[in-house]
Amino acid sequence: MGLLNDKIVLITGAASGIGKSIAEKSLEEGAFIAVVDQFYDGLSSAKDSFNKYDTEKIIFLKADVSHPKEVEKTIQKTVDHFGKLDIIVNNAGIGGEINPTGEMSNKGFEKTIQINLLGVFYGSKYAIKQFEKQKTGGVILNMASILGAVGFRNSAAYVAAKHGVVGLTKTTALEYADKKIRVNAIGPAFINTPLLDALDEANKQQLVALHPMGRLGEAMEVAELAVWLISEKASFITGSYYPIDGGYLSQ
Ligand SMILES: NC(=O)c1ccc[n+]([C@@H]2O[C@H](COP(=O)([O-])OP(=O)(O)OC[C@H]3O[C@@H](n4cnc5c(N)ncnc54)[C@H](O)[C@@H]3O)[C@@H](O)[C@H]2O)c1
Repeated sequence: MGLLNDKIVLITGAASGIGKSIAEKSLEEGAFIAVVDQFYDGLSSAKDSFNKYDTEKIIFLKADVSHPKEVEKTIQKTVDHFGKLDIIVNNAGIGGEINPTGEMSNKGFEKTIQINLLGVFYGSKYAIKQFEKQKTGGVILNMASILGAVGFRNSAAYVAAKHGVVGLTKTTALEYADKKIRVNAIGPAFINTPLLDALDEANKQQLVALHPMGRLGEAMEVAELAVWLISEKASFITGSYYPIDGGYLSQ
């Protein structure tokens, strides 16, 4: 028995990095999955890496999570294909503009909020509507960050969005705790994914030094926590924020 046997799981930003690892781990644990990504069509290499799984259990949907209608449509398409939705992982996100607050462009700030915060709100809202229609309850997992708990220079929009995700998670959890909808958030420290590709080696080494464990995390380490949290094993957990950070927040 897998942890997610026959569960229908929609994962946003699943063509790369952490989302892709959550998608793979979900398949290994018996789920049917909807892989949602804005740039999916361009990422044929990501699509290839799903070929080793039962492709009947996967659908690929192109959508931009910052557009509510597109998010609503992906949920509808998932339900049309698989018959229901059990779990949504609101993972899609960008690093956003890196600049001190006084220098940050308005557009750059807004774009990060639109994808990293509003995208999570839209995913939550339309998943809840579907869960209520099904009368089944459901699970929402939101991708925050350690930067949902502490600040980080030159990343005001990202930090604000991730703090927002933590607040949204707690509030949604309270609202739906008695309706069998669990809502949690994960807070990874810096993880070795394409999100960090923009950094040069020296910058990466500076990031490594911020982690007491002396290394960055791996996407599959985050996926292990994510899949456990969305499974029935975590049946009494809601409204929580789980750092997974090599000790970063303990300093
Ligand atoms: N890598 C890290 O250090 C780290 C740390 C903490 C939190 N996170 C969070 O984890 C999540 C995944 O990040 P990652 O490191 O795997 O990055 P990644 O760049 O490898 O993957 C992100 C995916 O999201 C997709 N995406 C971006 N904007 C989108 C949009 N508007 N609509 C739909 N899809 C979109 C991208 O195409 C990409 O496939 C993000 O929310 C990120 O903020 C990452």
